[in-house]
Amino acid sequence: MDRFIIRGGRRLEGEIVIGGAKNAGLKLMVAGLLTADRLILSNVPKIADIETMQTLLRQHGIAVDPVDAEGRTLSIGGPITSVEAPYDIVSKMRASILVLGPLLARAREARVSLPGGCAIGTRPVDLHLKGLETLGATIRLENGYINASAPNGLVGDRILLPFASVGATENLLMAATLAKGRTEIVNAAREPEIGDLVECLNRMGARIAGAGTGTLVIDGVEALTGAEHAIMADRIECGTYACAAGITGGDLRLIGGRVRDLGAVVRTLEEAGVEVLEEENAIRVRRTGALRGVDIMTEPYPGFPTDMQAQFMAMLAVADGASMVTETIFENRFMHVPELNRMGARINVHGSSAIIRGVGHLSGAPVMATDLRASFSLILAGLGAQGETSLSRIYHLDRGYEAVDRKLSAVGADIERLSDDR
Ligand code: EPZ
Repeated sequence: MDRFIIRGGRRLEGEIVIGGAKNAGLKLMVAGLLTADRLILSNVPKIADIETMQTLLRQHGIAVDPVDAEGRTLSIGGPITSVEAPYDIVSKMRASILVLGPLLARAREARVSLPGGCAIGTRPVDLHLKGLETLGATIRLENGYINASAPNGLVGDRILLPFASVGATENLLMAATLAKGRTEIVNAAREPEIGDLVECLNRMGARIAGAGTGTLVIDGVEALTGAEHAIMADRIECGTYACAAGITGGDLRLIGGRVRDLGAVVRTLEEAGVEVLEEENAIRVRRTGALRGVDIMTEPYPGFPTDMQAQFMAMLAVADGASMVTETIFENRFMHVPELNRMGARINVHGSSAIIRGVGHLSGAPVMATDLRASFSLILAGLGAQGETSLSRIYHLDRGYEAVDRKLSAVGADIERLSDDR
């Protein structure tokens, strides 16, 4: 297993290119299941979860062929030869559950392993299943698998989501594109990645209205065609590097970042003392004075995203004053706290809230990654700390961030990747 060695205290300055969004790209790849034609996706990030999704689609019989030498443009599509999503793949990546709706819509049956929990929570899929039953699917859970069938096809209906679940919205949205009649998804998630998926599906011939609002209206069609689509920039990667500018007192231009996708992150950055300037095709972020403590509550978009909570906590650990961070989306997303405290942070967790008392500086230490966003929280802490930080188990990071050491070194960070057997 590889690890990072980070020597902190250096101010970051320069440009970082923001890649394609993991949480849009994974679903856009799954949309390739909905057509026998070819879906051409560009701006594909080179991260482990994308590789896993390629493996999953290929074992369904779907071709996933790189169009360019770098593999940043993929051609996806073809006949479905297997409707089974096996445990060994689904257990590695929860987003695999999103093949359920498209398989039902296109092949009228699916056998998908129930995804287990993960580090940040139990993460049930009950809303996905209930919604698909509303569209006429028969669902049977057996031996850890979801056995779903809709022999006469899915039929549109009104679905009210008790919680604006991103995954449930996406699964049901994709299933409804080929259902008979109209489907309404009420209390749908409004994350920008869903807007990106809707834009691509409509290019494929779907008829979807209401993206970005709380209600999606889908009029089913007979079949979807191929299309070309560029994956949107990764707003969480963008926000993450904005925190790197914050914690190092730096000045970064984040190429491809879009202020409108960042939602409440912009306001929270500015409250914390990080200036955010919108440019033509970039966001410029720089620290203007001391970091200030702020209170954060994670919420569905356009609220403060849970995927930015760990990164902000690292920055707030060295802010002037106290901060309170409340995590309302996942039940166990504070695993970065003990590791930050080992670096000298003063964070106390009380249930779903954490009180952070800012300290003058953090000190480098050997720390361990536990999940994707916690991994970067520890990198940020190392960048701002005095001394050397060694971060192990960075396979967590590789799932969702591309070329972190290269991007950070290019703007002045002292970071290197070592293989643990060295
Ligand atoms: C997506 O997960 C993202 N993953 C997550 O990003 C992100 O944190 C999350 O949305 C919230 O924004 C991908 O897009 C691949 P949810 P998802 O369904 O779809 C509960 C990252 O770091 N719930 O909105 O699983 C669930 O337990 C990852 O990139 C049910 O109870 O999120 C959780 O508490 C982490 N029943 C909450 O809703 C269900 O059927 C949010 O889940 C579905 C969800």
